[in-house]
Amino acid sequence: MTFDQLRLEGVTRRFGSHDALTDLTLTIERGEFIALLGPSGCGKSTALNCLAGLLPLSSGQIWQDGTRLDPLPPERRGFGMVFQNYALFPHLSVRKNVAFGLQMRGLSRAEVRRRTDEAIRLVHLEDQTGKLPGQLSGGQQQRVAIARAVVLEPALVLMDEPLSNLDAKLRLEMRTEIRRLHQSLGLTTVYVTHDQEEALSMADRLVVLRGGRVQQIGTPEDLHTRPVNRHVADFMGFRNLLRLRADAAAAEGTGVVVEGDGVRLRGTTVGAVAAGATVVAAIRPEELSVVEDTTGDGVAATVEVVEYRGREFAVEARTGSGIQLNIRTSVRPVPGDKITVTADPEHLLVFPDDGDDT
Ligand SMILES: Nc1ncnc2c1ncn2[C@@H]1O[C@H](COP(=O)(O)OP(=O)(O)O)[C@@H](O)[C@H]1O
Ligand SMILES: [Mg+2]
Repeated sequence: MTFDQLRLEGVTRRFGSHDALTDLTLTIERGEFIALLGPSGCGKSTALNCLAGLLPLSSGQIWQDGTRLDPLPPERRGFGMVFQNYALFPHLSVRKNVAFGLQMRGLSRAEVRRRTDEAIRLVHLEDQTGKLPGQLSGGQQQRVAIARAVVLEPALVLMDEPLSNLDAKLRLEMRTEIRRLHQSLGLTTVYVTHDQEEALSMADRLVVLRGGRVQQIGTPEDLHTRPVNRHVADFMGFRNLLRLRADAAAAEGTGVVVEGDGVRLRGTTVGAVAAGATVVAAIRPEELSVVEDTTGDGVAATVEVVEYRGREFAVEARTGSGIQLNIRTSVRPVPGDKITVTADPEHLLVFPDDGDDT
């Protein structure tokens, strides 16, 4: 069972008066790996459960090519699901857990055996087939859950934070593994996570949610380099968010000078920024540079904290007016040093200020 396109049209889910998911519109192409990304409580699981059929929609529609899916129960959608808590049958062996869905479909013994073996091999559990879930590590249990989902060759695989119970090293390994399975089996995957690094490294496209609403849909590169608003920027690692004022005189095209509290920097506007308006200027720590020359644009600051991070140093500095700056630099400063910090205008994104700092 496969499809060309899966379309979510205005998918909305309320709990009482609470809008958990509002107006999610998204077209998923066959073979895509889509990540739903956002902080806890932003509506990711709600979206996934609406897609799976575990939650009825409050409004909107879901279409698989020409077939309307949203009135159908989960079992008639034919999707595979993998959850954070594995949800394996505790009294069944690895092999029986994986074979269960195939047996329910009434396939022949030989066919069940062949496909079960294949799925177990894909997740590298050949040596564990007789064990019960309780005798496996968290990573192995999650592999069983993945095998159990993909063995049914589902049209769509839905994963809800499948790696969040695993330790850091295993999480990295499983990322690669899930991506490899996705590719080699030609799956279409919707993957929920609150970890932007995970989403950026795995997905073809990301959907960033905030308060149940889509903020941006795009490729990892789109989101990384061109976040559409300050909330996406914040989530994408633009750790310096400075509230400043756009200088009227210097505005030209998307280039703008932003000033305030002893800070003067050149940046690039994203969205409509009026001359003289309050703005939020966003820049990543690694895009700030420490310079010797103090005559040009820049920010004077005093180094407060220096942490060694492998090839470079993470530096916290503070301006005279008390603004904290996070900087990455290869030259080791010492706490108390007076420095001048500048930014490449291309990397300093200037957003209209919506006044919402949450
Ligand atoms: N069954 C429910 N009843 C009431 N509120 C719910 C229910 N499920 C989720 N919510 C609320 O909807 C919002 C989105 O939840 P959820 O989709 O689980 O977020 P996420 O998966 O992004 O952490 C949250 O504010 C949550 O408290
Ligand atoms: Mg969730």
